[in-house]
Amino acid sequence: MKIVAYSSKPYDKQALCRVMQPDWETLYLEVSLGLDTIAFAQGAEVVSTFVNDRLDEKVLTLLAQGGTKLIALRCAGFNNVDLNAAKKLGIRVLRVPAYSPYAVAEHTVGLMLALNRKLYKAYNRIREGNFALNGMLGFDMHGKTVGIIGAGLIGRLVGKMLKAFGCHVVIYDPYTCVACKELGIEQVDLEHLFTQSDIITLHCPLNAETNHIINAENIAKMKEGVMLINTGRGGLMDTAALIAGLKSKQIGYLGIDVYEKEGALFFEDHSCEIIQDDAFERLLTFPNVLVTGHQAYFTHEALEQIAQTTADNILAYSQIQSADECLENEVTCD
Ligand code: NAI
Repeated sequence: MKIVAYSSKPYDKQALCRVMQPDWETLYLEVSLGLDTIAFAQGAEVVSTFVNDRLDEKVLTLLAQGGTKLIALRCAGFNNVDLNAAKKLGIRVLRVPAYSPYAVAEHTVGLMLALNRKLYKAYNRIREGNFALNGMLGFDMHGKTVGIIGAGLIGRLVGKMLKAFGCHVVIYDPYTCVACKELGIEQVDLEHLFTQSDIITLHCPLNAETNHIINAENIAKMKEGVMLINTGRGGLMDTAALIAGLKSKQIGYLGIDVYEKEGALFFEDHSCEIIQDDAFERLLTFPNVLVTGHQAYFTHEALEQIAQTTADNILAYSQIQSADECLENEVTCD
């Protein structure tokens, strides 16, 4: 079975090589999947991709024509996949629903602390021999209200960690969260969350309903000086509204690990190029904005789990395929 693994950086390849079956012919490519790179997938029954690979109808149609039957996502989010098109084309899509919620939750809290206590400024200041505290004033997390959007694995973990800080944690999810009650986390409506929270953090999937959930209208409802954190997906936030909110000081802090147009930037070294995304560059000019490049998931444990689940998914698929072939050919298989 031929497998092409797009967006495979050396660290991905290392983790995948340890768990892929020896008889699978796996091609690891650092480039992402798009129309310009699809030729590599010709004849590959399985194509494995990551968060910023393009899996729209056009790409999926070409993949199907080339013989692809399985997309093995190496991530939890599937907002970049046209699932209806995949279904129509008979391509199965499997993902890694959970690998390390701890990695993302810990990074989320890390962004909050770094922004609040200006750790990113302190790092530079001290190295320059500047020990002044002007501009470094933070606030106690204890007693603050934190609003979490999305009561899944990551959102609940973030809530649990912040409860340990003594925060008042509220959560919004369209479904009743029984586990939240047990954690002492109050489930509220979005309006309540937007108006009452000192810190708001996003942990819901990106879909038609949540696209730009952080927009000008909702930012206007928030407390002045609110801290916004996004380790979910870039499209959850309207970048233009963020810039306006930062300029008016309605947003006091912004910490993002994801960005709506990150596909053109993240996971690659652009340090010798002129970055053409003016909105992204504008974000970087604010002293109260901290950006990381989709690294919240990036721990040893998560990489190993992603590789293992991906290999398990491909194995399960190949076993089902063999069973189907046996049924079609009316032969008995062991
Ligand atoms: P999960 O599937 O366990 O939880 C998602 C929660 O969001 C569910 O409780 C669901 O009911 C809720 N939800 C659905 N629609 C909603 C809406 N309209 N408003 C509010 N909540 C809604 O997912 P998990 O593992 O907690 O991950 C959350 C998100 O984090 C993923 O969808 C993914 O986009 C992102 N992620 C980011 C990573 C990073 O490295 N930055 C790594 C892993 C995930």
